[in-house]
Amino acid sequence: MLRDKFNRPLRDLRISVTDRCNFRCTYCMPAEVFGEAYQFLPKSHLLTFEEIARLTGLIVQQGAVKLRLTGGEPLVRQELEKLVALLVKIEGVEDVALTTNAYFLPQKVLALKMAGLQRITVSLDSLDEAVFQKMNGKRSSVAKVLAGIEAAVKAGYAPIKINSVVQRGVNDETLVELAGWAKEQGHIIRFIEYMDVGTLNGWRMDDVVPAKEIIERINAVLPLEPADQHYFGEVAERWRYKDGGGEIGVIASVTQPFCGACTRLRLSPEGRLFTCLFGTHGVDLRDPMRDGASDDDLTEIIRGTWQKRADRYSEIRTSLTQPVRNKVQMYHIGG
Ligand code: GTP
Ligand code: 5AD
Ligand code: SF4
Ligand code: SF4
Repeated sequence: MLRDKFNRPLRDLRISVTDRCNFRCTYCMPAEVFGEAYQFLPKSHLLTFEEIARLTGLIVQQGAVKLRLTGGEPLVRQELEKLVALLVKIEGVEDVALTTNAYFLPQKVLALKMAGLQRITVSLDSLDEAVFQKMNGKRSSVAKVLAGIEAAVKAGYAPIKINSVVQRGVNDETLVELAGWAKEQGHIIRFIEYMDVGTLNGWRMDDVVPAKEIIERINAVLPLEPADQHYFGEVAERWRYKDGGGEIGVIASVTQPFCGACTRLRLSPEGRLFTCLFGTHGVDLRDPMRDGASDDDLTEIIRGTWQKRADRYSEIRTSLTQPVRNKVQMYHIGG
């Protein structure tokens, strides 16, 4: 079995299908940077669905069983359901999931369901309209996200996972309300510690609300108890409500890094492999593929990339003397 330098197997592939997004979350694509004039990747640079499916097939042969489609916002890529249909057919794939901001779900979710998409995770940072607007750059509304979630539930995607990034002084006062709503609706909410992904969000440690504090704040109102891990390498630490009313998760990648069990490989929209969310450069597969490389040639690049992997950024973040300047951006690699 394929292992990296720290003996970690390859289990998950996260596929970013576009670097574009219709939102401008301040922690990911701040509107002052990504204005009208910003040059996103031209279409010819993006992998086609057939190219993505071919590479995914090879990566699955090396051990990946879980696939997740991300972006940018994956649903801004036209006819994403066609890619889903190709991916679910690949032998060895156990799970195909999507992370989305929900904006296009009402119009897309049935096609995705019919294509075989198994799970949906929606990003939602607050139910308070002003807080939500501030965080996503005034591109949507809480009602719009809720409509997307409702459409997904109607299409049969329940329970839905909700991702919520917590920033101190921005939305931390609304997280207990959000947890209560998710509990009532039967969704699994996961609070994510705000991370220093990319180089554009002006991250400071003071902005992070530690997962421990998030749990304490919710527990004070809605009592919780720890729950077991679902599978090796799960990023979310799970908690369940003592009254039997479901579960929540916290993703403590800043205060309790989980690099030791990180089994994730990431494929960028233009066909580069990143072995860490905080990577600085990717290994290109697109050009060799377009120059006629065989499956064996490509497999060799994939294997070599994983075997050389020694990433553990979240574990060493606080001991770095210099900030890493050229980290890949979140909207490019997709979380
Ligand atoms: P399940 O397949 O449902 O278990 O999903 P998941 O737990 O992998 O969650 P998801 O893919 O929704 O990831 C949630 C968030 O956790 C991401 O959006 C990132 O912000 C963060 N995250 C996921 N993987 C990593 C990782 O490898 N490193 C770090 N630092 N953060 C990660
Ligand atoms: N820190 C933590 N989570 C982030 N996300 C985007 N940027 C960051 C960040 N800096 C989350 C989004 C989405 C997922 C893809 O990653 O909110 O839920
Ligand atoms: Fe778009 Fe998601 Fe980034 Fe927000 S976090 S700007 S929704 S890609
Ligand atoms: Fe994996 Fe890098 Fe995240 Fe650590 S920081 S868990 S190595 S993606």
